[in-house]
Amino acid sequence: MSTSDYTKICSLKSLPEKQGVRIVHEEEELALFRIGENVHVLSNICPHNHVAKIYEGEISDNSVACPIHGWTFDLATGKSTCGMSNIKSYKVKILDGEVLVKIPKRLWSIDEF
Ligand code: FES
Repeated sequence: MSTSDYTKICSLKSLPEKQGVRIVHEEEELALFRIGENVHVLSNICPHNHVAKIYEGEISDNSVACPIHGWTFDLATGKSTCGMSNIKSYKVKILDGEVLVKIPKRLWSIDEF
């Protein structure tokens, strides 16, 4: 299992069960959700009004609802479950109790502008 393009984000045990956690890693807003021994990672930015609140969403039936207007997203895929826009989802690996996330390299940084 290659993990060279994955970034260590946190430990599995630091994540509470069925409660979102916000982590910002190099300008990437992440919302992490632990369901048992699995972790799902979505963008923390809602595609509706671009607010960083997905981690505060209510979890039910493997989806999360944005706390602002209630758009819902599949935790595993980021696909909309309410017929609206999808949200970005990240690949995750759990290795030795650590949560690793595949974060695409940016071609530019906001500091360049
Ligand atoms: S801001 Fe998320 S549903 Fe409106």
